[in-house]
Amino acid sequence: VLGVGAGANYLASDVPAFVEFTERVVYLQDGDVAVVRPDDYAITDRTGAPADRPVETIDWAPEAAEKGGYDHYMFKEIQEQPVSLAQTIEGRVESGLDLSAETLTGVERVQFVACGTSYHAALYGAHQLRSWGVEATAHLASEYSVYPPPTENVLVVGVTQSGETADTLEALSVAGERGATRLAVTNVVGSSAARDCDDTVFIRAGPEIGVAATKTFSSQVATLYLLAREVASVVTDPPAADALNGMAELPEAVETVLDGSRAARLADAYLGEDGHFFLGRGNGVPVAMEGALKFKEITYEHAEGFPAGELKHGPLALVTETTPVFAVCTGRDAGKIESAIREVQTRGAPVVAIAPRTMTDIVEVADDALTVPAVHPDLTPILTNVQLQLLAYHAASSLGRSIDKPRNLAKSVTVE
Ligand code: AGP
Repeated sequence: VLGVGAGANYLASDVPAFVEFTERVVYLQDGDVAVVRPDDYAITDRTGAPADRPVETIDWAPEAAEKGGYDHYMFKEIQEQPVSLAQTIEGRVESGLDLSAETLTGVERVQFVACGTSYHAALYGAHQLRSWGVEATAHLASEYSVYPPPTENVLVVGVTQSGETADTLEALSVAGERGATRLAVTNVVGSSAARDCDDTVFIRAGPEIGVAATKTFSSQVATLYLLAREVASVVTDPPAADALNGMAELPEAVETVLDGSRAARLADAYLGEDGHFFLGRGNGVPVAMEGALKFKEITYEHAEGFPAGELKHGPLALVTETTPVFAVCTGRDAGKIESAIREVQTRGAPVVAIAPRTMTDIVEVADDALTVPAVHPDLTPILTNVQLQLLAYHAASSLGRSIDKPRNLAKSVTVE
């Protein structure tokens, strides 16, 4: 992507890298070569012929890409979630996602392709669809292309906040070659995923600068809930609308979590241990996996996230009094989470429950708790995840880590 400024031009793998300096953008095509100087630039295509690529204006306010008095972009972006979620949802509960007429024609099942945090959002989307009787699977994009599954009557959904992740673009390309309809769910207008797919839904989270994805995960989950509902209403009977109606309460519920979180205090209590386990059931599994990813990527401490039912199939061997366990409860399967909590407590592990405050059984059995307001269980994953974002942030902050640019990681992973 080429950013066109005044007396300065910029080359980056995606727009947030330079949105602070210019809102004028040229999207380069595959094979293009750009010669860039401070005052001008020239682009040639893969044949070497001069190429005239349009300059587009992006509608992200430059201040949205500034730190705004916060120590880190990540913390700012966590705090922005009430606003970014409201943007994501605005008008869509009433009017839907404005998919093109062909996108859902003939669709019988859904395959999500994504990486990292976006893969966890995709897991949530697949889980939600399956809960409404629609066959849906989430695939790690890097593995999808190795043995692509059958794509007949399949909608392939690429979930990628940047829209530039090479593995996801490759999976989408393979799906396209196999005749699937492809939908991009992305944050970046003009990104490769948005340009290459048959249709696009924007998550409208605003620019995210911190390498650790936070507000974009929440916006992806909210968008995928809406998408799942639209798909289900075509493939199976329309689901009950109660969570849909509850979406309007989400920004305020996130605000409540941000204002009252005890994550900063808890984070310090569980640092420097052998490992950190994050457990969930059902739609709490993507949250557990995302909680562990966030924790490890910015604290550099060992963390694993997995379904609680898997404990006894191996990981339990690692559980000791120096393995803090974070148990995510989204309001369903509480009995199963409770038995997992007791199982690890028996081995001496301290347990922190992340649960709706109304789930008193869970909160009381755990050694500590990070609670969230009670909303529809389909939407609770967003709230419990905000607590885990805060936990990771405060832990990394206490350790003095490079929070916005963790070692060895990049915001947009444009290589396979
Ligand atoms: C997590 O915090 C990361 N930023 C990373 O896992 C990210 O979600 C992954 O690289 C995929 O990026 P994308 O959403 O831009 O495709």
